[in-house]
Amino acid sequence: MKDNTSDTSYTNDELCRIAEEERAGTRGIFPERGRECPRCHTCIPVFRDLQESVRHQLLELIKAGQESEAIEKLQQETGCPARWAKIWVLHADQKMTIVFCNNQMNPRVVDADYHAEYQAAKQVGLLPALISFEDLSREHRSEQAVVQIAEQQHETSGIYRGWMLTPSQYTKLFAVLRKKRVRLLTSPKAYRHCHWLPESYSIIKALTPDTIWVPVAIPDLAEAAVRSLPHFGNKPVIVKDYVKSQKHAWHEACFIPCAADTEHARRVIRRFLQLQGDDLQGGIVLREYVELEMLTTHSRSGMPLAREFRIFVLQGNPLMVTRYWEEGNYGDELPDLEPFLPIIRQVQSPFFTMDIAKCADGRWIIMELGDGQVAGLPEHANVIDFYRALYESAS
Ligand SMILES: Nc1ncnc2c1ncn2[C@@H]1O[C@H](COP(=O)(O)OP(=O)(O)O)[C@@H](O)[C@H]1O
Ligand SMILES: [Mg+2]
Repeated sequence: MKDNTSDTSYTNDELCRIAEEERAGTRGIFPERGRECPRCHTCIPVFRDLQESVRHQLLELIKAGQESEAIEKLQQETGCPARWAKIWVLHADQKMTIVFCNNQMNPRVVDADYHAEYQAAKQVGLLPALISFEDLSREHRSEQAVVQIAEQQHETSGIYRGWMLTPSQYTKLFAVLRKKRVRLLTSPKAYRHCHWLPESYSIIKALTPDTIWVPVAIPDLAEAAVRSLPHFGNKPVIVKDYVKSQKHAWHEACFIPCAADTEHARRVIRRFLQLQGDDLQGGIVLREYVELEMLTTHSRSGMPLAREFRIFVLQGNPLMVTRYWEEGNYGDELPDLEPFLPIIRQVQSPFFTMDIAKCADGRWIIMELGDGQVAGLPEHANVIDFYRALYESAS
C-alpha cells in the first residue's frame, strides 16, 4: 500500500542543489520522483514552492505557444535545471483534470464543500475545473454544464469529484466532457458497477452480508419487499436502496429487528420509501444485519457506529485508507487489507471505494462499494495526501 505521508515534490532548496550538481558534473540529472509520463517514461517533477499565481502565468505562456519563456521563468522561480523546467513545460498539457461542481450562486467558484479538495488538487499539480451540477441535473442542459471547461488540444484524462450522480447523469457528463477532449477515467458502465449495489454483488458476495433486492419497476414496491422477507427467516435486516440508506433514521427507516415481524418490517420499509421520496435509486435492497464491533452511537442521530474504514482504490491498488466515522475511538487498530485484495482486483472500475467493517466476532466484512468520484473524503483525512496519491497513481 502507498505510504500516505510520502511527499514526492521538490523544494526550491533541493532544486538549487540539483542544478548546482548538474553544473559541476558531466552527466545530466533527471527527476526521480513524481508521476511517470506514460508516453516517454520520464518522471514529471512537482515543484512544492511554486506559487499558484506563477503556475497560472506559466500555463498561460504555454497556451500562447511561448514555451521557451515558460521554461526560463520556471527556472528563475524554482532554481531547477533547464532540463527539468523543459520536462514540466512539455508535459503541462497532460495534467489530469479534476472536475468539481461550482457554487450555484457564484459559478466561477468551487462549491464550498469542495474548496479544500480544489485547492489540494491545484497544489499537487492537477488541473481543477468546474461544472454546474444544477445544469447537469436538468433536462437538455448537459452541454451548458461544462461551458467553463476549455476544449483541450490533446485528449487528457479526468476524474470527477462531486455530488452523487445517477448513472444517467454520469453518462451525460462523460459524453459532454469527451467533446472537450477530457476523458473521465471511469466509464459510465464502471460508474454504475460500483454505484449500484446489485451490479457488483456477485463480486463481493463472499465477504458481504447476504443481500436481495427488488427493482423499482416492480408494482407496489413496498409490498414486494415485504413479500421477500422470508428469505431472512427471523434474522435482523437492513433496508436501503441501490445506493443509500436512511441510516440516521436508524430505528424508523433502516433497521428491521426481525424479518419475521411483517408488520414492523412494513412500517420501516414504508418509512424508508417516504424519506427517500423522488431520490430513490434503483429499488429496495434488503441485507442481513450483521453484529458489528461498536464504537459508540452517533451524537445527533443515535445510530450505532461500528469500526468501519473506507478504502479508496485506484487502478487496482489501495490509495488511501481512512476511518469512516468522525466520532468514536478507533484506537490504533488498522484493518488488514490482504483478504480484500483478490476482490479489489475483480472490481470493474479504475477508481472506487470499498467500505469495510469489523464484526463483533472479529471477522472483517465489506459493507459496500462506491464510486471513488462521488465518495466523501472523511473530514479528518489528509486532503493533500489524497490528491498527491491521485496525481502519482493516475496515468
Ligand atoms: N448488513 C449490515 N449489518 C450491520 N450493519 C449494517 C449493515 N448494513 C449497513 N449497516 C450499518 O449502516 C450503515 C449505513 O449502511 P450503508 O450500506 O453503508 O449505507 P449508506 O450508503 O447510506 O452509507 C453502515 O455504515 C453500517 O454501520
Ligand atoms: Mg455507507
